[in-house]
Amino acid sequence: DWNSGNVIAEQVARIQAQVGTGKVICGLSGGVDSAVAAALVHKAIGDQLVCVFVDHGLLRQDERRQVEEDFVKATGVRLVTVDVRERFLTALEGVSDPETKRKIIGREFIRTFEQAQAELIKEAAATNEDPIRFLVQGTLYPDVVESGGGSGTANIKSHHNVGGLPEDLQFELIEPLRTLFKDEVRAIGAELGLPAEIVQRQPFPGPGLGIRIVGSITQDRLDLLRHADAIVRAELSAAGLDREIWQCPVVLLADVRSVGVQGDGRTYGHPIVLRPVSSEDAMTADWTRLPYDLLARISNRITNEVDGVNRVVLDVTSKPPGTIEWE
Ligand code: XMP
Repeated sequence: DWNSGNVIAEQVARIQAQVGTGKVICGLSGGVDSAVAAALVHKAIGDQLVCVFVDHGLLRQDERRQVEEDFVKATGVRLVTVDVRERFLTALEGVSDPETKRKIIGREFIRTFEQAQAELIKEAAATNEDPIRFLVQGTLYPDVVESGGGSGTANIKSHHNVGGLPEDLQFELIEPLRTLFKDEVRAIGAELGLPAEIVQRQPFPGPGLGIRIVGSITQDRLDLLRHADAIVRAELSAAGLDREIWQCPVVLLADVRSVGVQGDGRTYGHPIVLRPVSSEDAMTADWTRLPYDLLARISNRITNEVDGVNRVVLDVTSKPPGTIEWE
């Protein structure tokens, strides 16, 4: 029967057999799946693995530190962080349409990862190391079922502005989580000694805070939302509700302002929306009935501590008809 120690031993042997002395690359997102996949591969082949983390500036507070410090400390993984915050802000300037935002973020993300990859490949060639031939993916069993089950190679297209890459670079995929469900992945992550903040992390969308700003994305708006989001997460954790709620998007209505009063003065600030949801699989969801005193504490803290926000509102829509995210 199922036992995380056995699964780890099995996967380590498989990865070693698959990779031999080859070099492997893995993109870390800060999420559970890529972190556990990377930790497993590292356990199997050590420094033949290099991980790439893209800081696109749409991350939550502490997320980069958790990967760069906590994850690296727990695993000893070799990590390259690519800081492309400016590049993303420029690419997203003036864009408020949700689908356009998603497309730009996806496109810039892939370009950034490919460029980092190309750099590493050039470095390896310069030092006569084996080329990077393998790519780790944190694919889970439900993803396999959903996409019809095919496996094989990923064809990462090189970019004409990258330089030095073969036209059709073929990577062989390593997918050590392909037979596993989410709770099993968490169990393996815990067994491998990964930090609880990573192993128990709630779902967070790839496009990050970029799709939680209704309106265009600016540095100031991101900083404001990051601050409000950190307060909400801290209060939900302190109330012991992390496990009970599926996730709680915090949304900045950057294109909306309302009148308020603070001290002797009138304010004209932005609302923050709380979207706590309960769900089994994110396909359907209900809004979570959070305790009123917790909501009051969150509201007081956000309006007092976050400059530019003078109102906190609660989203009481189930999915359907609402989606979990606002964009
Ligand atoms: P919706 O808003 O469609 O979200 O009800 C369902 C779940 O998916 C997450 N989500 C994403 N996850 N990349 C991701 O990795 C994305 O682009 C993305 N968009 C939404 C969302 O947080 C929720 O858990």
